[in-house]
This record gives sequence, C-alpha cells and structure tokens, in this order.
Amino acid sequence: MSTAPLVRTTPLLSAEALKVTFPGRRGAATARAVDGVDLDIRPGEIVALVGESGCGKTTLARSLLGLVAPTAGRVTFAGAPLDYAGRALKAYRKRVQLVLQDPSGSLNPRHTVYDAVAEGLRIHGYAGDERAAVSEGLSRAGLRPPERFFLRYPHELSGGQRQRVVIAGALVLEPELIVADEPVASLDASVRGEILALLLRLRDELGLSALVVTHDLGLAWNIADRVAVMYLGRIVETGPVEQLLTAPQHPYTQALLSVLPEAEGAPVVLTGEPPDPSKVPSGCRFHVRCQVLASGEAERAGVAEACRTVDLPVLNGGAMTQVACHWAAACGAKA
Ligand SMILES: Nc1ncnc2c1ncn2[C@@H]1O[C@H](COP(=O)(O)OP(=O)(O)OP(=O)(O)O)[C@@H](O)[C@H]1O
Ligand code: SF4
Ligand SMILES: [Mg+2]
Repeated sequence: MSTAPLVRTTPLLSAEALKVTFPGRRGAATARAVDGVDLDIRPGEIVALVGESGCGKTTLARSLLGLVAPTAGRVTFAGAPLDYAGRALKAYRKRVQLVLQDPSGSLNPRHTVYDAVAEGLRIHGYAGDERAAVSEGLSRAGLRPPERFFLRYPHELSGGQRQRVVIAGALVLEPELIVADEPVASLDASVRGEILALLLRLRDELGLSALVVTHDLGLAWNIADRVAVMYLGRIVETGPVEQLLTAPQHPYTQALLSVLPEAEGAPVVLTGEPPDPSKVPSGCRFHVRCQVLASGEAERAGVAEACRTVDLPVLNGGAMTQVACHWAAACGAKA
C-alpha cells in the first residue's frame, strides 16, 4: 500500500458530471460508456480506477486526456476547463501523458529506443538538448546507463524494459500527471512489481500524479492513495485505499474483493448478464446482479424497492469515502 498522505488541495484534474455515449450500430440503443462521473485527482496523488472489463475505464481515461470529447459534463485541469482547440489540446497533452497497456503495441518496431523517447520532444518542438533530455527520461524510468539503450530496438528488450521505454517517453515531456491504462497487465508478476515501484518513486521524487486504470484490486492496494470503483459507466464507491479495501461498503466492491486470492470467506459469484452499456438497468444499475438484493438482505433493510426503481446520485469524486448504494446508506456502519 502507498504511504503518501492524502493531499487536500485543489484538484489537478477533475471530471464533472462527465458522460460519453457511443451511437448503437444498426438501430441498437446508444451505449452509455461513461454515464455521469465526478472524479478528482490531486497533485501528487495516485488514484486507481478499477472495475471489470467493459465498465468504461478506458473511455473515461481517454475523455480525461481529451482524446474523446464528452457528450455532457466537462473536464478541468488546474481549475480551467479543457480546451479542445488544436493548440490548447496539444499543450494539454504535454502536461498529461498517456501510458498504454501493451508496450509492444505502443512502440514502433522500426524505431530505436532513442527515437521512441525523443518522439514526444520533437512533436512538441522541444528547443533544449534532446540527447540530455532522452538520457534523463531513460534514467528516471530505470534504464541505466541510458546510452546503452539508445540504439536498441523494441524486440531486443524485455517486456519490462519496453514498458520502461514507454514511461520514459512520457516522462521526457515533464508531465504533471500520467494516465496509465493497465500499465502492467501484459507483464510477468516479478516485472509488474518493479514497474509499480517505479510509478511510486516518480510520485515521491517528482510529485507526479497518476490515474492508474486496472481491473486488479490487488494492484490498487500496492500503488494507490485512493481507489474509484466503476460499474457500468459510474463510480459506485470511492475512498482512501486502505478504508475501501479493508471495509468495502458497496456490494460490487465486496464481490470484487471476495475473489482475490488472499480474501477470507466464500467468493461472491455475481449472477445475471454481463453489464451492457446500451441496456443500463433502471434503479440501481447493479441491482440485476447484486448479491445483497438476491439474498434478501436489501429486503430486510427495507430498500429492495428502491434498489429496483431509484437511481443513485453521482458521487462527488472528492477525497472522502463515498458509496452509491441504498443498502449501504440504510445500514451505515453495518454495511
Ligand atoms: N469507439 C467505440 N464505439 C462504440 N462503443 C465503444 C467504443 N469504445 C468503447 N465502447 C464501448 O463502451 C464500453 C466501455 O468500454 P471501455 O473500453 O471504456 O471499457 P474498459 O472498462 O476499459 O474495459 P477493459 O477492461 O476491457 O479494457 C464497452 O461496452 C465498449 O464496447
Ligand atoms: S443499491 Fe441495492 S441493488 Fe444496488 S448495490 Fe446497493 S443493495 Fe445492491
Ligand atoms: Mg480498457
């Protein structure tokens, strides 16, 4: 678990009532991939965005980066709304860098490590000493001595080294925030730990903020200051990592945690269809799969009708623990 204190300052990056929809093909309903999200990332904070496949993590991350324009709501950076005009967006993309899941896919096989890392500098018309900047980026990403890697090609590197090259390419632009989409999903367990340690070191040494997108709650435990759990386009629970992972309140978070290898008790097997953003259920969007509703616990707490019919408010995205669940609200500390 990360040890940095929660930073209570103006958020660096915020989503406010953010929605992203995609038109359905051949008359199918619109897919509500991101369906009302408030989320703050503060300076020096690492936030893990977790949730199962298709819940909208990548779409949310892309809209925070200005790669996809929101259908509604807005993104603000350092208090100012994101400007989608060409030059402003280019300047923004220097300050907020994307690190993708598959290092092989992110690197051009015909480019040397030097060219891969220098690419961003060239795009942004860097006027300083390019060689020195590339060296520093590689060193910060743990590829030392950097000159040894300059002329290598991606296929001559290990998976972990390739991911470090991708991170070096992001760092070289001296961003304030990194959005890392499943940054270690394609790596071996041993290398995974090294890359996570690198992200933590960058947070501590450079004050770098990060949004780390993952479907792995175990990874969130190791790296995040704060966790946001996403289900079918919404954040359903958010809070400081220790609180959220040791005392989860939302049945969905409880189910995700119950299947971790270190979990005590029986795993919760979610019933019902996998979530489909073109068919968001009425009431609580999780109600068709919720184990608490299925077991009669919600009925006993007097909230079953609300579970089926009353949508929950969008969580405000701030630092405190919040949960979008009628049962958790009714049961309080018991939940
Ligand atoms: N360009 C697109 N056009 C239409 N639908 C899309 C598009 N991009 C994403 N979607 C849909 O939006 C939903 C959310 O997708 P997204 O990629 O954001 O999920 P995710 O949480 O990142 O999943 P994973 O863990 O598998 O990467 C999915 O149902 C997906 O099919
Ligand atoms: S609101 Fe009801 S259906 Fe939704 S997660 Fe809570 S208990 Fe389950
Ligand atoms: Mg994704």
